[in-house]
Amino acid sequence: MKRGLFITFEGADGCGKTTQLMLLAKGLKAKGYDVIVTREPGAKGLGEKIREILLNYDGEVSSKCETFLFLADRAQHMDVIVRPAVEKGKIVLCDRHTDSTVAYQGYGRGIDIERINALNNIATGGDKPDLTFVFDIDADTSMQRVGSEKDRMESAGVEFFNRVRHGYLEIAHNEPQRVKVIDASKSIEEIHKDVVNLFRQVI
Ligand code: TYD
Repeated sequence: MKRGLFITFEGADGCGKTTQLMLLAKGLKAKGYDVIVTREPGAKGLGEKIREILLNYDGEVSSKCETFLFLADRAQHMDVIVRPAVEKGKIVLCDRHTDSTVAYQGYGRGIDIERINALNNIATGGDKPDLTFVFDIDADTSMQRVGSEKDRMESAGVEFFNRVRHGYLEIAHNEPQRVKVIDASKSIEEIHKDVVNLFRQVI
């Protein structure tokens, strides 16, 4: 059976990637493709429990513990959901993946990037996305879009946001073949067109 595709959607909080993921999924399904929509952290089952701790635990969480929880979720997600689906020929669209850990725990929290790369590699078994979109926005736009109801990660502040944003741009700079940056300050329709054009070019 022909291998499917693994495509990830990345960016700082409030960048609109989930809306774009859903639009691409709808378009591909309408064309008859077999599409699966999933996310990290917490797609389903055990992952949902890990997500609950990561986003809502209100006591102290060390950066290392946070990193390992994201990685634990990723290992489970890859083994149980993503890899089997790609092997069956499906197109898997995933909201956040390895680059989130590099951007948030690496650039954002200051954990060594080489170590994160090595740990990501263990969690994924070395599988990489075929294509990654990074939706880029500035801190002001993000704050407006996220609003006042923030989860634990969204409450980390503007400096943290800017480190994460810079991290994503560095990742794209280092892996231009896989990672495509999209200006996410535009309208939903314009961004969708950019996504579709890049999808066609790359895949
Ligand atoms: P979520 O509600 O899924 O937010 P979003 O819609 O922005 O994706 O929350 C996920 C949060 O977890 C988000 O703030 C980014 C963060 N995160 C990390 O810090 N590291 C990671 O490896 C992943 C996957 C997510």
